[in-house]
Amino acid sequence: MYNDVKEVLLSEEQIADKVLELAQLISEDFAGKPLMVIGVLKGANVFVADLIRKISIPLELDFMAISSYGTSTQSSGIVKILKDLDKDIKGLHVLVVEDIIDTGLTLSYLTENLRSRGAAAIEICTLLDKPERRKAHIDVKYKGFNIPDEFVVGYGIDYAEKYRHLPFVGILKEEAYQ
Ligand code: PRP
Ligand code: MN
Ligand code: MG
Repeated sequence: MYNDVKEVLLSEEQIADKVLELAQLISEDFAGKPLMVIGVLKGANVFVADLIRKISIPLELDFMAISSYGTSTQSSGIVKILKDLDKDIKGLHVLVVEDIIDTGLTLSYLTENLRSRGAAAIEICTLLDKPERRKAHIDVKYKGFNIPDEFVVGYGIDYAEKYRHLPFVGILKEEAYQ
């Protein structure tokens, strides 16, 4: 499994430090507000699990399952809601948590969709951002790392549903997806 990884881009320790930093900012900014954290499945699963355990204010957690990539390495631009929220978010302060923003098409669709539901505010937290690849503008309030345009996996991020369990973010060898 690790043999398919060309290079460790972000170590477990680098990620843990950043998670703590982001969680502290979020805890300050959302203090006193009804916070609803929404993890975007499946990729954000690992990040959101670590992040919420470092947030020191009350919150609720829900998930949406969204998929645009399927098994391809390219975004299709077609976004499907595979699982919706369990409850109404009207009046809540929503924090959407993503593992990575690439073209921005997933979040552009998702934030538009959530906006129509009457949340008091919607902010975005992403661990990784590939700004070079952006097709839709996204306002990101909480960002872990900008990364180069390489095919990354691990810490929740898959290629064809594999590698999500790697504890670090690594760059996949070309052979692994060709
Ligand atoms: C990946 C990733 C983001 C999205 C980013 O999800 O987890 O959600 O793509 O790409 P974009 O900015 O170009 O839209 P994917 O659709 O692969 O589903 P998954 O989270 O279940 O792996
Ligand atoms: Mn995803
Ligand atoms: Mg994926």
